[in-house]
Amino acid sequence: MARKRDFLSFWDLQDGEIEALLTRAEEFRFLRAVRAPHATRPGRVLGMIFEKASTRTRASFEIAIYQLGGHAVVLGKGDSQIGRGEPVRDTARVLAGYCDAVMVRTFGQDIAEELAAYAAVPVINGLTDLLHPCQVLADLQTVFAHFSGGLSVRAGAGAPASANSGSVLPVLRQQRYAWVGDGNNMANSWIEAAGILGLDLMLACPEGYEPDAKVLARARQTERGRITLSRDPGEAVAGRQVISTDVFTSMGQEQESEKRLRAFAGFCLDAPLVARADARAIVLHCLPAHRGEEISDDVIEGPQSLVWQQAENRLHAQKALLEWALG
Ligand code: CP
Ligand code: NVA
Repeated sequence: MARKRDFLSFWDLQDGEIEALLTRAEEFRFLRAVRAPHATRPGRVLGMIFEKASTRTRASFEIAIYQLGGHAVVLGKGDSQIGRGEPVRDTARVLAGYCDAVMVRTFGQDIAEELAAYAAVPVINGLTDLLHPCQVLADLQTVFAHFSGGLSVRAGAGAPASANSGSVLPVLRQQRYAWVGDGNNMANSWIEAAGILGLDLMLACPEGYEPDAKVLARARQTERGRITLSRDPGEAVAGRQVISTDVFTSMGQEQESEKRLRAFAGFCLDAPLVARADARAIVLHCLPAHRGEEISDDVIEGPQSLVWQQAENRLHAQKALLEWALG
């Protein structure tokens, strides 16, 4: 029996599948750029469950399944029984009866795992407190496209270049990566990607805000990547090519925001900090951003910021992911 293709973390992908998804994501970027139809999954339905707010995840998944020829059903806290206490696992089983795949944005990773165990269709993690793998997939696409010039989206290109996922890993491994800020869901997904793909990643986090110890230990066990922790943002970014950050206060932590603002003093990704990175470095932020907190306005609006392309790539990367999950 074919395996049910859940995507709860990068560990759900087998060897070579990340590279294949990134290659396909680049093809989708090309197809969209030339307005070529690509309805490869007609009639398929994606159910989406949101226990937290979303702009990009909601819009990009809904548009992705639509452009693949399918349809999305969105259930949010405010407009479904979820907000009135119906358990996510019940909602999931009902949705699985109607849909071909389910995406969930929730709190605990255990909720997403439980949902996948109950649902007979593939379940995609659209963000938990622990991980945000769909975002890091788009981030990896952004890095690959930028430093390779893109597989297929080149000015004047008449047709998509034939897929060659063999070029993905060398390009990704040629870069050195930095994470500045909270050891949150985004940091944890970057760590998983680094461990699996063999990337050199240094994270600078204040004391008490380190990434998840189990995520870190498992990623280090591959002995492929080089994943190091620092307290010093300057050390983390020094000479590196890919600099990422995210909010200091994630969804669900709002009551800690003042304490966090104090703890993260000195961790703002501003121009003097970016100047310590490689001159060719790119700056990534999954958005939404708080200008003046984790990133300065001149950096997010500056020439090294790829945040808008990064956000757009959610659409392309998730088309590749949906195609893979739907089979
Ligand atoms: N980056 C991201 O997941 O954005 P949303 O919270 O708007 O979905
Ligand atoms: N770390 C952030 C990411 C938002 C896309 C959060 O969980 O709120």
